[in-house]
Amino acid sequence: MEIIRSISGMREFSSDCLQSNKSIGLVPTMGALHEGHLSIVRQSTEANDITVVSIFINPAQFSEGEDFSRYPRDYDGDISKLSALSAAAVFMPEAADIYPDGYKTYVEVRGLSERLCGMFRPGHFTGVATVVLKLFNAVRPTRAYFGLKDYQQCAVLKKMRDDLNLDCEIVLCPTVREADGLAMSSRNAYLSMEQRLDAPCIYKALKDTGHAIKNGSLKIKDIAAKLHETLSAVKSITEIQYASAYDPDTLDEITHGARVLIAVAVKMGATRLIDNIVVEL
Ligand code: PAJ
Repeated sequence: MEIIRSISGMREFSSDCLQSNKSIGLVPTMGALHEGHLSIVRQSTEANDITVVSIFINPAQFSEGEDFSRYPRDYDGDISKLSALSAAAVFMPEAADIYPDGYKTYVEVRGLSERLCGMFRPGHFTGVATVVLKLFNAVRPTRAYFGLKDYQQCAVLKKMRDDLNLDCEIVLCPTVREADGLAMSSRNAYLSMEQRLDAPCIYKALKDTGHAIKNGSLKIKDIAAKLHETLSAVKSITEIQYASAYDPDTLDEITHGARVLIAVAVKMGATRLIDNIVVEL
């Protein structure tokens, strides 16, 4: 497995692949890899000749006061996990290569970026879209893989792909969960024992409301109230940032419809957790 540390090295590697007509799958990550990431890597290695996994903790998507400096880092562990999965290359650029002095260009996906997480993390999705476009330009992937655990990120990146006519298929991958239902996340490592024990309540609340709207005992317009009632009773949850029913395409809050995105963001102390499900009625 090659470890590539510069944009120029990455472009050289992908030029060679593209010249020999090899398809390239890109899995962008910020490292501290867990089974959620690894399942995406497997999806890419199955469908592409070459899989490139990028590991870059992108400063542009963290706001002041967020966890950029303490974000979990485990480069050696990540590299050994990836070599076991026959990823062809790991792209680990330096921040100064991605954002050199005087860097001024950002990609803003209006509308979708401002809802849900965007209301609590201003500028976050501009940071995500910018770095992902830069990764696309360095790697030139045939397909890029993203996890539905970050549903809004998927929606923003698909919109960027369409609006900018990018020649890259975007593949969305299912959320991988712990045995008790908690969505895997690098940030779960921040949870205290008590918070970790309470954390599966998020998925349980999503599933319970999903079942209830499917069997008709709950109306879509009442999902937000039901989620707030359930989640506010959990001791470790110190803030509910959003918890409601949304249109899966526009992310507008909805009171009726045939497909419903039920999405939640809560804080347990300093740790922010998100999860979602999509229910077809
Ligand atoms: P990161 O949080 O490291 O996640 C990398 C990819 O793994 C994302 O597509 C994310 O949705 C996916 N992922 C994380 N946990 C998952 C889970 N439990 N099940 C399925 N997929 C999961 O998301 C980012 O990094 C960054 O914003 C990035 C896209 C790399 C841009 O910096």
